[in-house]
Amino acid sequence: MCGIVGYVGSRNSVPLLIEGLKRLEYRGYDSAGVAVLNGHGLETRRAEGKIAKLEQVLAVTPAEGGLGIGHTRWATHGPPAERNAHPHLSNDGTIALVHNGIIENYAELKQGLKAQGYVFHSDTDTEVLTNLVQELYGGRLEDAVLAALERGEGTYGIAVVSTRDPGKIVAARKGSPLLVGLGDGEHFIASDASAILAHTREVVYLNDGDLAVVRKDGYRVFDMKATTLDRPVAKIDWELAQIERGGYDHFMLKEIFEQPQTLENTMRGRVVLEDGMSKLGGINLSHDELLTIDQVIITACGTSWHSALIGEMLIEDLARIPVEVEYASEFRYRNPIVTPNTLCIVISQSGETADTLAAMREAKRRGAKTLGLVNVVGSTIAREDDGGIYLHAGPEIGVASTKAFTSQVVALALLALKLGRKRQLSSVRGREIAQALLDLPAQVKQILDRAPEIEALAERYKDAQNFLYLGRGYNFPTALEGALKLKEISYIHAEGYPAAEMKHGPIALIDENMPVVFIAPHDAVFDKVVSNIQEVKARRGRIICLTSREEHMLEGLVDHEIRIPPTLDMLTPVLASVPLQLLAYYIAVKRGANVDQPRNLAKSVTVE
Ligand code: G6P
Repeated sequence: MCGIVGYVGSRNSVPLLIEGLKRLEYRGYDSAGVAVLNGHGLETRRAEGKIAKLEQVLAVTPAEGGLGIGHTRWATHGPPAERNAHPHLSNDGTIALVHNGIIENYAELKQGLKAQGYVFHSDTDTEVLTNLVQELYGGRLEDAVLAALERGEGTYGIAVVSTRDPGKIVAARKGSPLLVGLGDGEHFIASDASAILAHTREVVYLNDGDLAVVRKDGYRVFDMKATTLDRPVAKIDWELAQIERGGYDHFMLKEIFEQPQTLENTMRGRVVLEDGMSKLGGINLSHDELLTIDQVIITACGTSWHSALIGEMLIEDLARIPVEVEYASEFRYRNPIVTPNTLCIVISQSGETADTLAAMREAKRRGAKTLGLVNVVGSTIAREDDGGIYLHAGPEIGVASTKAFTSQVVALALLALKLGRKRQLSSVRGREIAQALLDLPAQVKQILDRAPEIEALAERYKDAQNFLYLGRGYNFPTALEGALKLKEISYIHAEGYPAAEMKHGPIALIDENMPVVFIAPHDAVFDKVVSNIQEVKARRGRIICLTSREEHMLEGLVDHEIRIPPTLDMLTPVLASVPLQLLAYYIAVKRGANVDQPRNLAKSVTVE
């Protein structure tokens, strides 16, 4: 959600900022801007729309300077418009500021500044903060920023530059990620490592409450009391190719096709086949702790919440521990029962989702042990949890989550296996599960090889206005995820429902224009799902059925069949979700939608 990049060094910052913003565009893309400092003062260029629009502005009115900050926005206060785009300038034109997050008391601060004669040109909370920095300026930019942040309430990742104190970028974070990139005779700041990966792999992650002064030849991190802090230098081990499309039309398609490798990476070194066990080095739970857990709470948002629902069934099935799944945004505002023997599993691809992070902090505060299932190494959740399982799926850029989802399910299966084997689960059953896990990458590959069949199906249904996705047991969450994929990128209304529950509402919508996707692998509830298929058929719904073997019961009943390889019931969501990702992708492309940057959505939602 919103992206920040900054540069200070001997090169012209503008092309570097644009390059960084393009890499961050997946985080917010309704407007963008840059501000650079040069011998003539501050030059700002902003544009509504994608970064390409900003490039057009810069082509007409070029800017140059060795120090600059840039921003790509996902609107919170005020609609996408040039006047609301960042950077914002202070009234006297000496200060430029970019901001991710929300200043909650901005209205009150704005009133005070207005009374002092300040004029506002945007609807944003950011412009208020910018003028507050001007108001508090007394000779050093970092002091004014610190004083302004003391008065502001809310969350922020900011970068600030000033003509009155040139040669430095002042950065600060609270609740919105920010890092300093270390180069040779040059330094960067960014909200996400991908923005600067082409130039440096050495980064310093700022913690909440940290500020930094970043110059050409060095940087200093300090806290709100101005005490200097020693933050470790981390190394990013992604390859540049991982954040590029590599010949695919979209990141989403690339990420769908990466799944045989990403699943392997999630499992690498973690499956002990001969013992029917998993090895999870980072969970930081002793043998005794693993045995004393008597309740699990899983909290997450969006797609990660769907994998949580599958995790609930996996853990209850294999380990017989009661599990609650909570939307992170709900968990934090109710009064959940947490005991010292509660394990709180926090699932987040980005590791930065504001609600999920807050839920984890709340669970910790109430005494639970926290375990993060996170993809982005070094992200806030990964740094604050008590233990974790990294997904190792590599950077996910497409806004609609795909490979992270299947890796989350596999990571949950590994965890459930461990918890189960520590309890009553037999080694024979453990081995069966371990083998089935190891078979998944090749099975996903088989599904991907049949992508053209799904593309043909997409052509057939691309003009539908509604879709229903139905599944039972382990595949009720798959139905939710299939529907979410379709609605987020194609803008077709889609609902996921437990197949039998359909009778209590959605059945009213079924007619010959309603495609209904059944997720019906040959599992324990297959026969039951067939009855639900009959009910849809009787009402002339169009039936697309995902199943795992030739089934005579389906003959003459379904309009289209999508075949997935057989696996254990508990792992069917991993295989079943792949064709659903492809279906959503091809339908969206055929409708002309921008699948990597769907309207109104953001990859990482760092506001409440
Ligand atoms: C946003 C994204 C979703 C994602 C959700 C949770 O809504 O668009 O794709 O599932 O956030 O994100 P997280 O990074 O916490 O998994």
